[in-house]
Amino acid sequence: MDSNSADDTFVDNDIVEIMMSRRSIRRYTNESVEDSLIKKILTAAIWAPSAHNRQPWRFVVVTDSVVKRRLVSEMGKRLRKDLEADQIDQAIIETDVARSFKRITSAPVLVLISMSKIDMDIYQDLQRQENETIMAIQSTAMAGQNLMLAAHSFGIGTCWLCAPLFCPGVVKEVLNLPQDWEPQGLITMGFPAESKRKNRQSLDSRALFIREKST
Ligand SMILES: Cc1cc2nc3c(=O)[nH]c(=O)nc-3n(C[C@H](O)[C@H](O)[C@H](O)COP(=O)(O)O)c2cc1C
Repeated sequence: MDSNSADDTFVDNDIVEIMMSRRSIRRYTNESVEDSLIKKILTAAIWAPSAHNRQPWRFVVVTDSVVKRRLVSEMGKRLRKDLEADQIDQAIIETDVARSFKRITSAPVLVLISMSKIDMDIYQDLQRQENETIMAIQSTAMAGQNLMLAAHSFGIGTCWLCAPLFCPGVVKEVLNLPQDWEPQGLITMGFPAESKRKNRQSLDSRALFIREKST
C-alpha cells in the first residue's frame, strides 16, 4: 500500500465494512428498484442526527422517465449556459452536457435531496442565522450519507451529484417543490453496473491527535 494512502485493509464490523466498501456508482443496470426498498433506504436516511432534531431534509423520489428527462434537460440548459460563460470550447460543453444527460437519465431512481429551514430557529444576529443554515445543510448531508450507506447495504449503488446546487430554481420549477425546499444534491440510485476502487489520503494527513502527556 502507498504510504500516503489510508489503510483500507481493516474491517472491524459490518457497519465499518459498509462505510469503507461504498463507492460512488455512475453506471446502473436497467433493473428497477422496488418501492418498498426505496422506502427502507429513505427510512434509514431520516434517522440521521440533525441540529435540534429539526430534521430539515426533504426528498423527492423520481422514477418517472419523462420527469427525469425533463429535469436533466432543464439542468443541462443551465449547465451549458454556465460553461459558455466560462468560455469553454463548444465541443467540450456538448460532451459534458450529453454525458450528464445519459448518466442521470439511465439511473433507475433519482432522489433529489433538499433542505428546508422552516423548522429551524430564527435569529436577528446574521452570524447566528448563518450558522443555523449551516447546521441545516450539515444535517441534510448526514441524511444523504445515511441514504447512500443504507442503499449500499442492500446492494444498491448511489452517486451524489451536486448539479442542483447550481440551478435550484430550475429544479424547484420542474419538480414543483414547496417554496421552502432548497435543493442540495441529486442522488442517482440503482443496481450497480460497475465496480470501483478509490483511495483516501492517509489518516495522518487529515487528523491531529492531542493526547494526554505521559508522565
Ligand atoms: C457533496 C458532493 C458532491 C458530489 N458531486 C458529484 C458530481 O457532481 N458528479 C460526480 O460524478 N460525483 C460527485 N460526487 C461524488 C464524488 O466524486 C465521490 O464521492 C468521490 O470521488 C469519492 O469517491 P467514492 O464516493 O467512490 O469513495 C460528489 C460527492 C459529494 C459528497
